[in-house]
Amino acid sequence: MKFFVDTADTAEIADLAATGMVDGVTTNPSLIKKSGRDIIEVTKEICGLTDGPVSAEVVALDHETMMKEAEVLRKIADNIAIKVPLTVDGLKTCKALTNDGTMVNVTLCFSANQALLAAKAGATFISPFVGRHDDNGFDGMKLIDDIRLIYDNYAYETEILVASIRHPVHVLESARIGADVATMPPNVIRGLFKHVLTDKGIEGFLKDWEATGQNIG
Ligand code: G3P
Repeated sequence: MKFFVDTADTAEIADLAATGMVDGVTTNPSLIKKSGRDIIEVTKEICGLTDGPVSAEVVALDHETMMKEAEVLRKIADNIAIKVPLTVDGLKTCKALTNDGTMVNVTLCFSANQALLAAKAGATFISPFVGRHDDNGFDGMKLIDDIRLIYDNYAYETEILVASIRHPVHVLESARIGADVATMPPNVIRGLFKHVLTDKGIEGFLKDWEATGQNIG
């Protein structure tokens, strides 16, 4: 399973990249706003922090302007994936971009039928938003399960990129289902390492080791 960091905070990305656990980065207009930085400048810096895909989102709603924005964004670096919304124009843009070899991440997916359309449009990644799904009383993980089944039925190569992840259980359940990628905020990635019994175990080992009076080396 690939782990992407869902942020435009370059300090956080650099810190997590050092763990070797980061396989890419996703951004969106809200994360760019949160960064307080120019989209081109911050995206370029992010592309230098990982060899993996970096998703940069168009903001136009019509195909023609999406293509123009995508042209600007994909010139930033070779590892740019263009993010488009799951709309008719977004999927037209997806098809055009993937036909000429550009990675495309189709975002704001909330149904398996939408994911089916994205795969037919040749999407590199599909981003179902599980957290927002759950927030509104739907079952986010059932959506991931349905998409996995449908994609496997037809051997679609589109990768399921689980987004809007709120906690480590979303990651665990996504991995159990066989999603390809989990994109998550920095705190969720850090939370994956944590377990109270690991901390207690280290504490106990070090206390007993200290009692031996020994050193290694
Ligand atoms: O990648 C999509 C993600 O940033 C959305 O997360 O928490 O706004 O639903 P959230």
